[in-house]
Amino acid sequence: MKRPIAMLTATGHAVPTRVFKNTDFASIGIETSDEWIRERTGIGQRHIAGAGENLTSLCTAAARTAMEQAGVTASELDAIILGTASPDRLLPATAVEVQAKLGASRAVAFDIDAACSGWLYGIQVAEGMLATGNYETILVIGGEVLSRIVNWKDRNTCVLFGDGAGATVLKRSTKGRGILSAYMRSDGTLADLLHRPKGGAADPLTPEILAEGTHLLTMAGREVFKNAVRSMADAADRALDGAKLSATDIDVMIPHQANIRIIEATAKHANIPMEKVFVNVDRFGNTSAASIPIALSEAHAQGIVKEGSTVMFVAFGAGFTWGSMVVRY
Ligand SMILES: CC(C)(COP(=O)(O)OP(=O)(O)OC[C@H]1O[C@@H](n2cnc3c(N)ncnc32)[C@H](O)[C@@H]1OP(=O)(O)O)[C@@H](O)C(=O)NCCC(=O)NCCS
Repeated sequence: MKRPIAMLTATGHAVPTRVFKNTDFASIGIETSDEWIRERTGIGQRHIAGAGENLTSLCTAAARTAMEQAGVTASELDAIILGTASPDRLLPATAVEVQAKLGASRAVAFDIDAACSGWLYGIQVAEGMLATGNYETILVIGGEVLSRIVNWKDRNTCVLFGDGAGATVLKRSTKGRGILSAYMRSDGTLADLLHRPKGGAADPLTPEILAEGTHLLTMAGREVFKNAVRSMADAADRALDGAKLSATDIDVMIPHQANIRIIEATAKHANIPMEKVFVNVDRFGNTSAASIPIALSEAHAQGIVKEGSTVMFVAFGAGFTWGSMVVRY
């Protein structure tokens, strides 16, 4: 495939109104501290969906901002791809609910379940669709309402995650702008290190499952940490190799925002100074598939990512899934 084929033309994001600070965990009986969470993860607060907020509403709001910025109307959308691990319903895909809300009647709409790599996978699927010549304008969203699938009694996980959505509009490349390289990997042999053990079609919900909480997210934190560092470091190398660029060519690195220590280790391996790394994990926590598009949207709004910027994305998540991309914005 001769690149660039697709370019990211606009961004938007939306997060729930309610902010849940590290110090708020005491109010729900979780034994932790602001110091422990900040030291281990870099997280200071996260946004949590309240009554009336759900994945569809967050994704629709993020999409509207991106579409307005791109000057694209709902009827011009050819496809809507939503990366998420916390769909509003198990059937149908939340992407069709977003399609209905936007009134994007011509768009094909579907979800991608690749956990924290969902948006990055979605962009690469959209690039392939644009390459066929059958599509012109594709909305790619990463969105999560993880607060509804985490175990609020498990301090190992509940302090890490947050809710939100980020959206991007993709079009065919012009003037050499767009995706210069892209890389995706998966390893299902490690699936049990970060998963929701039960409650799916293999083990449908029962009162026992609900009581023990095995339908909720569970994670072997240390193992996930090691794999994330290893895989994201490798993915960063592959993205640079694929684009035939070196670290000094990268203006901004936007890694998945799971943990500041993982971000720092990835940047160090890639030889990218932290001044060039966009970080917002302190304010949003780990929003899984939404983390990179929210960060991109903020970086764009702040003028850090602008036309002509060379940007590297690196993602890692449950599956395991991981990947990377270099984009000339
Ligand atoms: C979860 C994570 C922060 C834990 O940090 P860690 O340094 O590995 O800590 P450990 O798991 O070794 O736990 C150390 C101790 O802290 C305790 N602890 C765990 N969560 C705690 C919390 N929220 N507050 C206070 N103490 C906590 C543990 O119970 C353990 O106590 P023990 O030694 O008495 O058993 C870290 O493993 C991590 O970030 N993993 C990757 C998570 C991630 O980003 N996942 C998503 C990837 S997409």
